[in-house]
Amino acid sequence: MFPMNMIFFLILTLTTVSAQDADFTYNGFGAAKLRLDGIAEITPNGLLRLTDTRLLAKGHAFYPSPLRFRNSTTGKALSFSTSFIFAIVPKYPDLFGHGLAFVLAHSVDLSYALPSQYLGLFNANNSDSSNQIVAIEFDTNMNPEFGDIDNNHVGIDVSSPRSINSSHAAYFTNDNGAGFKNLSLVSGKPIQAWIEYSHMDGLLNVTLAPIDIPKPVVPCLSSNVNLSSLISDDMYVGFSSSVGNFITCHYILGWSFKLNGRVPALDFSRLPSLPHTPSKSSLESWKIGLLIILSILLLLIIIIGIIFLVKRESKFREVFEDWELEYGPQRFCYKDLFLATMGFKDQQLLGAGGFGRVYKGVLPKTDIQVAVKQVSHESRQGISEFIAEIVSIGRLRHRNLAQLLGYCRRKGELLLVYEFMTNGSLDKFLFNQPKLMLSWGRRFHIIKGVASALYYLHEGWEKVVVHRDIKASNILLDDQMNGRVGDFGLARLYDHGTDPQTTHVVGTLGYLAPELSKTGKATTSTDVFAFGGFLLEVACGRRPIEIRASEEDVVLVDKVLKYWKAGTILEAGDPNLGNEYIVEEMEMVLKLGLLCSHPNSNSRPPMRLVMRILERDAPLPEISEDGWNAEISAMAEGGFDNIGMSDGSLLNMFACSASTTESALLTGR
Ligand SMILES: *[C@@H]1O[C@H](CO)[C@@H](O)[C@H](O)[C@H]1NC(C)=O
Ligand SMILES: *[C@@H]1O[C@H](CO)[C@@H](O)[C@H](O)[C@H]1NC(C)=O
Ligand SMILES: *[C@@H]1O[C@H](CO)[C@@H](O)[C@H](O)[C@H]1NC(C)=O
Ligand SMILES: *[C@@H]1O[C@H](CO)[C@@H](O)[C@H](O)[C@H]1NC(C)=O
Ligand SMILES: *[C@@H]1O[C@H](CO)[C@@H](O)[C@H](O)[C@H]1NC(C)=O
Ligand SMILES: *[C@@H]1O[C@H](CO)[C@@H](O)[C@H](O)[C@H]1NC(C)=O
Repeated sequence: MFPMNMIFFLILTLTTVSAQDADFTYNGFGAAKLRLDGIAEITPNGLLRLTDTRLLAKGHAFYPSPLRFRNSTTGKALSFSTSFIFAIVPKYPDLFGHGLAFVLAHSVDLSYALPSQYLGLFNANNSDSSNQIVAIEFDTNMNPEFGDIDNNHVGIDVSSPRSINSSHAAYFTNDNGAGFKNLSLVSGKPIQAWIEYSHMDGLLNVTLAPIDIPKPVVPCLSSNVNLSSLISDDMYVGFSSSVGNFITCHYILGWSFKLNGRVPALDFSRLPSLPHTPSKSSLESWKIGLLIILSILLLLIIIIGIIFLVKRESKFREVFEDWELEYGPQRFCYKDLFLATMGFKDQQLLGAGGFGRVYKGVLPKTDIQVAVKQVSHESRQGISEFIAEIVSIGRLRHRNLAQLLGYCRRKGELLLVYEFMTNGSLDKFLFNQPKLMLSWGRRFHIIKGVASALYYLHEGWEKVVVHRDIKASNILLDDQMNGRVGDFGLARLYDHGTDPQTTHVVGTLGYLAPELSKTGKATTSTDVFAFGGFLLEVACGRRPIEIRASEEDVVLVDKVLKYWKAGTILEAGDPNLGNEYIVEEMEMVLKLGLLCSHPNSNSRPPMRLVMRILERDAPLPEISEDGWNAEISAMAEGGFDNIGMSDGSLLNMFACSASTTESALLTGR
């Protein structure tokens, strides 16, 4: 009894020892003493690399000593379980081969075995070898010669590459076999595999899952295997892998094995990591990604650039036509004007009139101070004639003209560039409580200057230039307080001798000669009429029409006329001057003002004579009294007697305003 027990105990002890030996766990292979051959090696960071970049090669790694796999009492194969994490990393996503296998082998001498589809375990003679091999293959190629089901399967091979059973690589997320998920073996990502064999029911189970998923309950492959008949007493356990014509790296990150029991779980935190850019494919996809990002960025930059340029282009877009080529020097670049006026900022605004706004500016390259007048115009019609006028006006040279330097044209907009006049317009010094009261001497000087400029326009140049809008607010003062005739925007040109062809009355109320309303023709004589109004303005220090004045004094001409008739013309003079004026000059200017403002155009002196009178080279002609009333009745017959104004001059004024169209300047030609 006792010896029997003894023997039993000894056997028990022996098998226990062998079972204990067959229980190992490698979380990384840094310290493992595996039996390697072929191209298999342990990388410095502890990865078991079965194959590398070499082609048509095989690699093996086995636990160093064989394990006793058979129960000597029952003669049956022992149960076992194993778990490992592997990764198959192809160089090109679509070209790879051939997979790896977990192997039970009687001999580790696999020199007879072939690479490629033979997985480094078998050869063309199939079961010709004396070696006993049971392999669980993770096959990434479909070899019809071996009856492979596809190129991503798990199979059980017994001494032959032709599997006895196989299954598509997949896992089940549900315990009842539902939640089927395909699993790509060549994804390059770590995959955990469990292989379990129970001698009780003779079932060999293979289970797969990505490493972030716990072990599925339902195995991928569960097959009846009579392992007892397939193994010898001692078997080596390990891995085999092979490559064919395409570079594929096969890695094992960790492995545990146990005979007669459940395998302990691997410690993921201790596993070595896979090489970062192991394959060119991911490197290339990284490069492609970067390239895409870069090209998107580039595209964005280009689009933003184009938008910026288009905006900038439209901001500075000008209208330029062939006929303008000859005006090159007078043509300004809009960008320069834009910069000069700081983008037409309000703080640069000098004033705004019926025709547009005037901005102060400094030309960027030359530092010349300019006044830029913005005139809006809708129609293209007549613009070329107008520009021609502008350009020829630009050629006028007189010390009492505010020089027109040039123009610029944009869609719906015309810009006229004038010499900048430091002291602004004369009306500011005459009306509305001026900061500086102009002395009589200055006023007379300005009057003479304006007269000489007007004389130049009418007779001193190759063409007759009718200014058409002489008034105090269009007379500018330079830094020396010289009067300069400005605003040629309204001027019309016509050659000497030809009939003026004006069709629209343009000008300012109170300065419009009565015949303008009938003929609509601006002439040098209508300019003289306006000049008369200007003379009275300067001498009397008030506007030609002052609505707030007492009824009979609303119209300045009438008021002066009234004093003249009463023989007290000097009383019409600017009360602000007091006695500070030269009586003869004041009297002459007032009378000349009346003379020039005569309703009968024939009674008005030409500018040549006006000049001489002012210079005291010629005597002042008598003012004929009768023309005034005759004109009034003529106006009344013209159909304007219903206005209800008894005052003839005021009637004139309204008659003119009725046909005055300011915008006619550009559109009405
Ligand atoms: C072998 O089988 C016998 C009888 O079933 C059992 O008692 C013993 O534990 C087994 N030994 C091993 C190592 O599994
Ligand atoms: C395979 O069998 C052939 C004959 O059928 C033999 O010549 C050859 O050596 C065998 N190969 C191996 C590797 O056993
Ligand atoms: C899994 O893969 C097989 C074979 O490629 C295919 O027939 C099946 O539709 C796939 N199943 C899923 C859920 O993707
Ligand atoms: C193998 O899988 C089957 C079916 O899921 C199961 O009944 C059996 O217990 C499994 N065997 C092992 C050893 O896990
Ligand atoms: C082969 O494997 C499948 C899938 O695991 C299984 O259902 C079938 O029973 C197996 N065949 C044998 C003969 O065990
Ligand atoms: C398994 O193989 C052994 C040895 O070859 C044999 O005795 C046994 O009957 C087989 N079992 C089954 C279920 O086929």
